[in-house]
Amino acid sequence: MHSCFALVALLGSSFVFAVPSAAESHSDLVPNARVCGANLSPEEIAFAEESFAVDRLVLETTNKQLRTGAIPVYFHVVAANQTREEGWLAAEDVDYQIQVLNDDFASTGVQWVLADADWTVDADWFSLAAPGNSREVDMKKRLRRGDASALNIYSVGFTGGANSGLLGYSNFPSAYSRDPNDDGVVVLYSSLPGGAMQDYNLGRTVTHEVGHWVGLYHTFQGGCAEPGDFVDDTPQEAGPTYGCPVSKDTCSSDGVDPIQNFMDYSYDACMSQFTAGQAARMKEQLQTYRGIAI
Ligand SMILES: *[C@@H]1O[C@H](CO)[C@@H](O)[C@H](O)[C@H]1NC(C)=O
Ligand SMILES: [Zn+2]
Repeated sequence: MHSCFALVALLGSSFVFAVPSAAESHSDLVPNARVCGANLSPEEIAFAEESFAVDRLVLETTNKQLRTGAIPVYFHVVAANQTREEGWLAAEDVDYQIQVLNDDFASTGVQWVLADADWTVDADWFSLAAPGNSREVDMKKRLRRGDASALNIYSVGFTGGANSGLLGYSNFPSAYSRDPNDDGVVVLYSSLPGGAMQDYNLGRTVTHEVGHWVGLYHTFQGGCAEPGDFVDDTPQEAGPTYGCPVSKDTCSSDGVDPIQNFMDYSYDACMSQFTAGQAARMKEQLQTYRGIAI
């Protein structure tokens, strides 16, 4: 079974009391499915969006220096030993992933540049690092680089017990101030382009998780009910999409389900789109919480 989930830590806010981290994991029995654990409750989403509205206004009244240009990426390869099967990716694999990330984000104007890559052999981290556990904390404490405006990506194996089947996870920009060390994206090493993870090996797991890192929710957030993912031009859908079911249409509102959107759960080959609305949201999130101007 290749179920997987990505867990997104609950959004926090620097201007409102931080709510407890909702490290809620979620597994799913659909075989070979992308399952992402960004399962925020309607209350948590409402809290985050109210905070966002305030934080954005506060930012407009300050003269904060903003970073411009391509966003630096620090890529941390964590392997059990120095074989490809045990996570030891090549420099070319990392380069190719950054290229996919840039291609997928091209329409949004957000660009990425590899600032540095490092390789670590640690069988414990490779196998067991997962949302919120001590291995993850140790790994990030040792390897994380840069500030809120730097993207850190860790490739691991998720081979240990409860983590088996995870594809990746991320946190949202608004959570940065609460726990800077935790900020970043963790992905299954075999989801990189050319990896062994069938149907999910074109590098779109990194694209999807980075979508969360820039502040996007899943396209199926909230199901058929407003306000969904807080983006106007992503048609609503009742739930995640698995595979690539063309013309799937689960809500009575306008538009077929956005199965090709990077923030759905479809196969990598099925995904090709961020919308203009998503691009606008990520820019506001990046400016408000990461000090980045696009
Ligand atoms: C790497 O780990 C695998 C799995 O434990 C093992 O079969 C293999 O012999 C190891 N290779 C090296 C070079 O250590
Ligand atoms: Zn997700």
